[in-house]
Amino acid sequence: MKPVIPDHVPPERVVDFDRFTSPVLQRCPHQGVSDLFRNSPDIFYTTGDRGHWVVGSATVARDMLRQPDKFSSDPVHNPANARKPPTLPNQCDPPLHTELRRIINPFFSPAGVQKMEQGIRQLAGELIDGVLARGHCEFVHEIAQRFPVELFMRMANAPLQDREMLVAKVDRFTRAPDIQERLAALGELGAYLHGMIVERQHTPGDDLVSLAIHGTVQGRALTEDEKQGMVNLLFLGGLDTVAAMLSFIMAYLGQHPAQYRRLVDNPPLIANAIEELMRVHGVAGMERGVTADMEYAGVQFKAKDRLVFLPHVYGLDAQMVEDPMRVDFDRPVSSHLVFGSGPHRCVGSHLARLEMKVFIEEWVRRVPAFAVDAPGDLPTRGGLVWSPVAVPLVWPTDAAVAGSTP
Ligand code: HEM
Repeated sequence: MKPVIPDHVPPERVVDFDRFTSPVLQRCPHQGVSDLFRNSPDIFYTTGDRGHWVVGSATVARDMLRQPDKFSSDPVHNPANARKPPTLPNQCDPPLHTELRRIINPFFSPAGVQKMEQGIRQLAGELIDGVLARGHCEFVHEIAQRFPVELFMRMANAPLQDREMLVAKVDRFTRAPDIQERLAALGELGAYLHGMIVERQHTPGDDLVSLAIHGTVQGRALTEDEKQGMVNLLFLGGLDTVAAMLSFIMAYLGQHPAQYRRLVDNPPLIANAIEELMRVHGVAGMERGVTADMEYAGVQFKAKDRLVFLPHVYGLDAQMVEDPMRVDFDRPVSSHLVFGSGPHRCVGSHLARLEMKVFIEEWVRRVPAFAVDAPGDLPTRGGLVWSPVAVPLVWPTDAAVAGSTP
């Protein structure tokens, strides 16, 4: 049964859109949803996914995300987004949020992630070399999903023998068609991470999990829920997101051989190209709850109204970026909100950038030309993180150069 439209929502602001099931999400979702937003009010209401507002304008979204006192991340103001334990630091507001962020910021700073570059490069090289001689792979499953799991294991100093077990659980969590199966996998992942927390409590190291759980906030140690919430998000925040975005990017390059050729001929262009490819392939969104009855941007809100933001397509908003549908690797870096905005802006953004840049550099070194081995537009899925369902790739094996990681 669809939720009732609340009395304070005027009929002209109601649009039919469900961020999980709308048909527009099943192929070329970036194009389809940005078209929908262009033809809808800046902020509209949908009865999809239990009923919520959607902020369709990038500039309005940016303003709202910078005002946590009005638009809060705390589920107290958005009960539909409550989880037990909460994922942290994304489900709380300043000042607690600022202190939780301070614990993990050094690990993810540009200088912090630079220390990981060699390990990331080695891992990318190993994953590519694993499929190279074959001349084909299904990129999402065989490479994109493994890459961030294995990287997290390095950051957390997790035992290597757990790798296949963890990859299998993440695969069930992200791809199982049955929601109960996905939730069961999530529970098992939470239990695995809990075991890691208990162990690091007694024998801390210099890894990310030890850093996160031994921090202090407001002069006290973290509670057990806070520890679990932090580690959950550090694990999950960088998994599906990086895998999905890298898959979209590889699908794009496999479908645009002239653009890919430019990267092969001029690898220093890759850093800028990644920025441009991220702009047009946003994957992750967020929610906020309205803290009090108020009028904002011409809309009458009630306290506890639920707001959904879709940075997936904010980089395609002409108010934000000139000629937004043109993918131009030479474009000066433009604004996009794929990592969010305001205090909760993605803590892993430098790491995500580095992972994708290094991966493409290693791919370019080995594969002079490749293509997507499927006709037409690839099937995609909506939800919290948009992703291609599968990206079958092919390349000529006689030209590929294995094992060339420096
Ligand atoms: C392409 C990859 C990624 C995308 C698109 C992405 C996107 C986002 C977005 C949009 C937010 C803001 C959420 C909000 O405002 O409520 C966020 C927050 C966050 N991300 Fe990422 N992310 C990516 C990679 C990563 C990585 C690699 C990590 C770490 C390993 C990570 C960890 C986090 C954490 C911990 C937060 C919460 C920050 C806070 O609440 O202060 N993310 N991410």
